[in-house]
Amino acid sequence: MAVGRIALYADQHFQREEHMLEIAAYPWLTQHRARHDNFRAYVAAITTGTAPLPVVGELLSWLVDWWVGHIGTEDKQYRDHVQGCAEAVASVG
Ligand SMILES: [Fe+2]
Ligand SMILES: [Fe+2]
Repeated sequence: MAVGRIALYADQHFQREEHMLEIAAYPWLTQHRARHDNFRAYVAAITTGTAPLPVVGELLSWLVDWWVGHIGTEDKQYRDHVQGCAEAVASVG
């Protein structure tokens, strides 16, 4: 199912990002990881049937809003901090 592939991609992305933030000793890693975990939990609930599967349009809208919002704001917040740590930058290639 497409949602499962999205969940896998997202989790791999989150793991790499969290590892990078750990290396950089990002002081707001706990909060950032919690945002990722909210995404993980929602997608897991859908894929396991714990939460009802939304209609495709609503799911796509939620995914786009979440990703655009997260990348556009929360991911930007760590950029300056990480750029000051060459080892962290190198960890994501
Ligand atoms: Fe993130
Ligand atoms: Fe990200």
